[in-house]
Amino acid sequence: MADTRWFQEARFGMFIHWGLYAVPAKGEWYASIDKVPAAQYEKYFHAFDPVDYNPRLWAHMAKEAGMKYAVLTAKHHEGFCLFDSAYTDYKSTNTPAGRDLVREYADAFRAEGIRVGLYYSLVDWHHPDYPAYEDPFHPERGALSRRDEHCSFDRYLDYMHAQVKELCTNYGKIDLFWFDFSYDDYCGEGWRAEELTKMVRTLQPDILINSRLEASGGSLGSLLSDAPTDWAGDFATPEQVIPPAPLFTPAGTPVCWEACQTMNNSFGYTRCDLFFKSSRTCIHQLVECVSKGGNYLLNVGPDAKGSFPPESVCILTEIAGWMRRNADSIYGCGLSPLSVSAFGCRVTAKGRTLYLHVMEQPVGPLALSGISPDQIKAARLLSTGAEIEVLKSGWAVQNYPDTTFLSLAAQANETMPLPDEKDTVIMLELF
Ligand code: GLC
Repeated sequence: MADTRWFQEARFGMFIHWGLYAVPAKGEWYASIDKVPAAQYEKYFHAFDPVDYNPRLWAHMAKEAGMKYAVLTAKHHEGFCLFDSAYTDYKSTNTPAGRDLVREYADAFRAEGIRVGLYYSLVDWHHPDYPAYEDPFHPERGALSRRDEHCSFDRYLDYMHAQVKELCTNYGKIDLFWFDFSYDDYCGEGWRAEELTKMVRTLQPDILINSRLEASGGSLGSLLSDAPTDWAGDFATPEQVIPPAPLFTPAGTPVCWEACQTMNNSFGYTRCDLFFKSSRTCIHQLVECVSKGGNYLLNVGPDAKGSFPPESVCILTEIAGWMRRNADSIYGCGLSPLSVSAFGCRVTAKGRTLYLHVMEQPVGPLALSGISPDQIKAARLLSTGAEIEVLKSGWAVQNYPDTTFLSLAAQANETMPLPDEKDTVIMLELF
């Protein structure tokens, strides 16, 4: 297993789902869900012309939002490659785009000091040797034209391995490889996963690999056991859910994990999905992940021209504002050593410092359980350094001697609007 320290320090990354599916604009599963015949899908290949693609702008937005790494879909399930692979013609250089989009992405993000990750779909709905007829997801599942197919899955695996090799060879240092996904017999050694893992780690000795050579969004793989396989990867990938509690193996070893989430309800650009979360919700999700010892990979689905949706830009900009003031409560933080709780709060921690994330307006002073006033050396607002009073007495709190109260207002018994309605962070330095 690799050294996951930078990853666990980073805590926050950007997922980017981009491919031909941005043209029909119905999400990256559109071909499968609507059983779109290959000939019909082909027209998106000829229409893919992302004239506004400027990965330096993407990288800048990610950087401002405080994201420390990014993961771009070099190939999604549709099989289309955003890179100039020697093994297929189904690639961006042969579309009106005419460019190696992965190369430009890697260069731009690296230049901003953001670590570079690549997503690569194990599933492939375009390669002729990927079985279609019996597959549960392939767009041509059950199609008569595919009934007598003679696929050589080994030939597909050679192709897939060769492409992974290209990605690990031709694009400089790759910090993270994100495979997707395993199901039924298409799992573990079904992908020749041991050989694949070895190759990736040989070509990129410091790389981190996710768990999906044997897992999916809905399964976490043998990383959750005390005897992980050689291809279990370095971190588990819960999807569209945040684990209810920190993840441990049965023997109690903490498991490294990253929750990937969408800003609306779709990974790939979806024209009619305007159900975007607020930046406040995204910040709360980030904090929730960190408070449980995990990472947060927040997705953007650029449109067919290569622009981030305006709603995503707005979310990123607002997160940027919050992160500028409060990033110390995220980077390098994890589970709290004390189980402190308070109404509407989550706690992240780094060493002897606790960060109390106040997400709901308290009435009067904020009651903390699990900690006594004598354990607190100092309490301050993280954003300004202003002292927050730890109440030892006062008529409103005197009946609760076992509870620690923090006064957010000028007077102990007053209520004051939270300085940051998204998440007000109070830093508690412990003795
Ligand atoms: C999946 C999906 C998908 C998405 C992803 C992200 O399981 O198939 O479209 O790319 O995982 O986690």
